[in-house]
Amino acid sequence: MYDMLTNIQFSFLKTFYHLDTNAPASENRLSLDKIFVDNFPQKVFGKFVVDFGCGLGGDTKTMAEWGAKLSLGLEIREELVKTNSENIKLSNCVFATTLSAEFKQKADLIISIDAFEHFSHPADMLKIMYDCLHPGGEAFISFGPTWYHPFGGHLFAVFPWAHLIFTEKALLRWRNQFYNDGATKFNEVAGGLNQLSIAEFVELFNKSGFVIQDLNCKPIRGQRWLQKILGREFTTSMVLVRLKKP
Ligand SMILES: C[S@@+](CC[C@H](N)C(=O)[O-])C[C@H]1O[C@@H](n2cnc3c(N)ncnc32)[C@H](O)[C@@H]1O
Repeated sequence: MYDMLTNIQFSFLKTFYHLDTNAPASENRLSLDKIFVDNFPQKVFGKFVVDFGCGLGGDTKTMAEWGAKLSLGLEIREELVKTNSENIKLSNCVFATTLSAEFKQKADLIISIDAFEHFSHPADMLKIMYDCLHPGGEAFISFGPTWYHPFGGHLFAVFPWAHLIFTEKALLRWRNQFYNDGATKFNEVAGGLNQLSIAEFVELFNKSGFVIQDLNCKPIRGQRWLQKILGREFTTSMVLVRLKKP
């Protein structure tokens, strides 16, 4: 029954939807100085900062240009670490796939933008963040859309909430017409997708040992009224969290 449904859904997706593999990853993102507190560039000045899930490294570079003592971009995709290292030549800016032990308790500040919904093991990531900050250090995190947002399925949301309607198998089969990396699950696509709800993220933050200083579920533009009725899961465009290591 499940296979028959998957076959029908796959045929539908194949007929009506094409995936543009050359589409830019994050076209409409706010610049780093607009995402968090007003004085964010001053907060970064002279600090050792780590950018978790840095992607193309734009924010890591920006923080180096703002005068960070050291700006370290962490990125799981080795090819991005390589191109970032080749393209961004600043003495206070480096890229790596993992955080080396020498940095334990050394970082002053962490950022992570649009990456938490991609981390396959977000609790482990929070532990790594906690361990690399010194006491009093802060993590500024912004992520989304999360799973129940109309486009929380990212490339699988071919129309609003399509990722909740079609089976994982049908969507992966459809995607694999355009990619040949052999992914069979949402969390196996390049960069990952962990399908967590906002409630699940909040539970992880509560258990992380960090103090939650601020948690703001920003409604989809113009939909604040809907958020009041439906709650945060279906109507939040971006989750902003500020954590402090006690
Ligand atoms: C949507 S991109 C955001 C990139 C960048 N922060 C930005 O805002 O443009 C998310 C990035 O997180 C990376 N990522 C996923 N899991 C990771 C992990 N465990 N460690 C480091 N990076 C990871 C992905 O490869 C991807 O480049």
